[in-house]
Amino acid sequence: MNMAQTQSVKVIASAPDPVLGYCKFQFGSFTFERDMYFVHVSWPKGVHTIEVDRFLRAMVRDIGWGFFYGWIFFDDVFGTQNHYGTVDIYAGTYSKGHRDTGVDFLETFNTDDVRVAFETISKNWINEGYDPLRAPMETGSPLGPKTKDAAGPLIRGFEPARRMMGLPGDVSPRSDASGHPINRAFADMSFDKPDIEIEPGFEDQVHAFNLFDHIARADVTWNPSFTSITRACICCVTSEEHMLPVIHGNDRNEWFIQLTDEIHWNIQDKNTGNPRGRIVMKSGDVCAMPADIRHQGFSPKRSMLMVLENGTPGLEEKYANGELEPFPITASRW
Ligand code: PHB
Ligand code: FE
Repeated sequence: MNMAQTQSVKVIASAPDPVLGYCKFQFGSFTFERDMYFVHVSWPKGVHTIEVDRFLRAMVRDIGWGFFYGWIFFDDVFGTQNHYGTVDIYAGTYSKGHRDTGVDFLETFNTDDVRVAFETISKNWINEGYDPLRAPMETGSPLGPKTKDAAGPLIRGFEPARRMMGLPGDVSPRSDASGHPINRAFADMSFDKPDIEIEPGFEDQVHAFNLFDHIARADVTWNPSFTSITRACICCVTSEEHMLPVIHGNDRNEWFIQLTDEIHWNIQDKNTGNPRGRIVMKSGDVCAMPADIRHQGFSPKRSMLMVLENGTPGLEEKYANGELEPFPITASRW
């Protein structure tokens, strides 16, 4: 695990632009500037432009997920890598074209400094009426000049269960009472409560709830929430509509179980972005994403997905140095 502490770096905001009202930000060697439609990221050797919607949808998730496992690509060029204590921000490092022409750039920061910088930028650039965690059809537009900062928490839907949702004292599943009605896409499902019959003496130890009901009420998409944690086995569920707003580069295996509907996945080589595969997961399908790829999902209608992660500290090093093969099982062992 790379716990090396780097120098603390603070994000610096400019005065608001007199025409559009947004600030420009300097963070280390990077500058971040937005206009009506685009975000322009510059670094000493180059500039890169990303649509503002795509950028903000990626940035709030990167913050909310604590930079996740491995790489979060905002697009093919720009993103972050989590070293669990420090975070790299890179531009072109994993794009063959940028590397070949020598304009790639990477800088390492303390995790907390990146979190504060990304929060500062997102708060300034997100207007009331636009929520980048919602499905595009369920929120307003991020385009245009600054109006008013969005009220309410930017980052939500990721409150971890300590043991399991719904246990006394733990996080509660979503409900009408918590302000989460069933989403329009799941109106045709039935959500019976489980019958729980407990042997005397085990009343505090047995628990069940309807997981579909909880997922059907999500007001966010592509934002997994921890449902149960058993040692390092992290079980997350999420409701997906439109596209995963990031391209995730794995530093370990992760498992997907498609609970309803379907998701189409693009799988690419992690270092070059070259295509490696396509997977169409239909309801009931299970797949393991290898540790040496990047992937992005497309959900043509809102669907439910379970994501299983292995949170064992230091696992990323065992994959990086070849001690573990990138697949959970190889053909020779079947
Ligand atoms: C993933 O990168 O594996 C991922 C992220 C968010 C989701 C689903 C999958 O909602
Ligand atoms: Fe992933």
